[in-house]
Amino acid sequence: MTKVLRKLRCILLFGIAFFLLPTNLQGQNSLYLDDTKFVDDRIEDALSRMTLEEKIAMCHAQSKFSTPGCPRLGIPEIWMSDGPHGVRMEFMWDSWSHADWTNDSCTVYPALTCLAATFNPILSFRYGNALGEEARYRKKDIILGPGVNIYRTPLNGRNFEYLGEDPFLASKMVVPYIQGVQKNGVAACMKHFALNNQDKWRDSINVEASDRALNEIYLPAFKAGVTEGKVWAVMGSYNRFRGQYCSHNNLLVNKILKGDWKFDGVFITDWGSAHNTIEAARNGLDIEMGSWTNGLSWGLSSAYNNYYLAQPFLRKIKSGELSESLLNEKVRRILRLNFRTNMDRNRPYGKKLTPEHKAIALKVAEEGIVLLKNEKQFFPIEKGRYNKIAVIGENAVKKLTQGGGSSELKPQEEISPLQGMIDKYGKDHILFSLGYASGEPNYSNELPSLYNADSLMTAAVETARNADVVILFGGLNKNFQQDCEGDDRKNMNLPFGQDELIVKLLEVNKNLGVVIISGNAVSMPWISKVNGLMQSWYLGSQGGIAAANIISGKVNPSGKLPFSIPKKLEDNGANSFGPIAYPGDGHNEVYKEDILVGYRWFDTKKIKPLFPFGYGLSYTTFVYGKARTDKRTYRPDETVKISFNLTNSGKMDGSEAVQLYVTQKNPTLLRPVKELKGFSKVALKAGETKIVEINLKVSDMAFYNDKISAWTLEQDDYEISIASSSRNIKSANTIKVVL
Ligand code: BGC
Repeated sequence: MTKVLRKLRCILLFGIAFFLLPTNLQGQNSLYLDDTKFVDDRIEDALSRMTLEEKIAMCHAQSKFSTPGCPRLGIPEIWMSDGPHGVRMEFMWDSWSHADWTNDSCTVYPALTCLAATFNPILSFRYGNALGEEARYRKKDIILGPGVNIYRTPLNGRNFEYLGEDPFLASKMVVPYIQGVQKNGVAACMKHFALNNQDKWRDSINVEASDRALNEIYLPAFKAGVTEGKVWAVMGSYNRFRGQYCSHNNLLVNKILKGDWKFDGVFITDWGSAHNTIEAARNGLDIEMGSWTNGLSWGLSSAYNNYYLAQPFLRKIKSGELSESLLNEKVRRILRLNFRTNMDRNRPYGKKLTPEHKAIALKVAEEGIVLLKNEKQFFPIEKGRYNKIAVIGENAVKKLTQGGGSSELKPQEEISPLQGMIDKYGKDHILFSLGYASGEPNYSNELPSLYNADSLMTAAVETARNADVVILFGGLNKNFQQDCEGDDRKNMNLPFGQDELIVKLLEVNKNLGVVIISGNAVSMPWISKVNGLMQSWYLGSQGGIAAANIISGKVNPSGKLPFSIPKKLEDNGANSFGPIAYPGDGHNEVYKEDILVGYRWFDTKKIKPLFPFGYGLSYTTFVYGKARTDKRTYRPDETVKISFNLTNSGKMDGSEAVQLYVTQKNPTLLRPVKELKGFSKVALKAGETKIVEINLKVSDMAFYNDKISAWTLEQDDYEISIASSSRNIKSANTIKVVL
């Protein structure tokens, strides 16, 4: 009898599971994902079959990186992984120890600062797609990236995971990244929503910023990711905004994200960023992930049932304090994510570590490196130009895919700059010396270096003395209080005695160039003394090849700075108002510079940066023709069509990221001197001319008027400038907007 019952139960369950399956698996060919009604019906059906406990279980973690789904109904677990530069190694079920699998290495793509520096949205799509393929292959349903918090201060430990200081650039780069990832049936999870512009005190700091700064600076990239990129998941941030934690912030989540932008995906906590069951339930939090009961601190193991959205939530529903409809709304969103990812039977199978993945990692790295200074034609260093090239600096050999916090990765291959240089020039032509050294990366401590600093410096000076040219690979690294999660840098200086090292090297060899590898601006007291300077980034698996290709001239540099490099820290907006503006007083932080972030500050306050936003040299030269607009007067719903000739007047093929800035002539509120509103990456053969066309939506020239809480476009004259950087305008036109 029990056997028969069991059989019957089996048939029944199979029937239910079959009914829940997408129709194409039932033998029909249907693009069911495009059929919202179909998916909505399935969601309602599943929801109606779930118990209260099953629904609650879907709203919180069951392990460090997964939620349980609903096994009884055949609804799969959801698996997540960091993000944003590759698919992270596996972890133990309930501890922060690496699982030490042998098949969880990945392609490491360049850091997002590098991607932003390419000014190339097509590359961003290919990057997202490659990452999505690897995530899918590794059976991940959500990749925890991209990060789109605005670069507000060069001290923020996590700027390397973000897309720079400009909301327009970040918006244009984030949309294709998301589309590329999600093409693979893997959700991108845009993070950290919102105002997480520093890691110091991130768990508690309360940010006060105006509506204008919010709308014009800190939200646009998130908004583009939702409304244009159609992102399927968003992660809340640790900090508070206007007194309420961002992971259950009524204004940010209910009103803006889910209300105004109509986000229909899943809103997830950062790990351990929920603080309160009632707020989490009411203010739009769908999934709570974390570490132990209260998130960040150490505690019980397997404490998932104690999460705010676990038993406490269940109890409050049972007691009537919270309504079950709040829970249903969360589960609907989670089920929709299932349909979009692991219940989409049409999604591709994914791939990992393919030659195409390598190629895209290399291409992004090459296009992102920024040439900042090139005197006496220091670069390119063609093969054969020098007999002895001294490569000095720890960053020539340090594993920069490790450390940094949650973005750490386990690369299948990581080609160091030293290896890249040896492969390029031959080992007989390369002399190497470490020059300086740091300790091993560690999340919460600076570990001491194992080497004696004086001996390293002496050895490096000897190496430089014997060389024809010196290249120092320095900068920051992924150690605690460098470019690393959990805290910020203490100052803008180069660490580990590098400034002194550069001076000492120059004393014996003036033919010296510096390659800064970092995700943040560093101060450069030696800048006038070095002949060559490149801003490089955490370049990922193929970094050494990319660096050597640029240095040798095999590839012409075409990256542009996605952030301004100030001469000194206090020149930067957020750092010029004292501690209350950054890093705060321990409780609160006021964004006093308001909308004047990055070049908006430098331009408006007439402060000269060391290197401006959008700046970057090439080995060739570009001549900009006079810009034309298709007419002179426009209405708000029209598009300005700007065109101009661009000629590569040098001897080498190359690409130029041309930029379009807008200035309103007589605004009724303060507006920045100029704002980026368009760009295009143009590839030109030596001697070639192309007509470049950039479209500018007139509505994109509006500002957020916080007096009336609305985007406002004023009838006025607007100057449209074509530029090679925010400080190098090539041609300007004035147009009129009439309402
Ligand atoms: C980070 C997130 C990350 C999460 C999971 C947190 O500490 O802030 O960016 O996705 O950990 O590793």
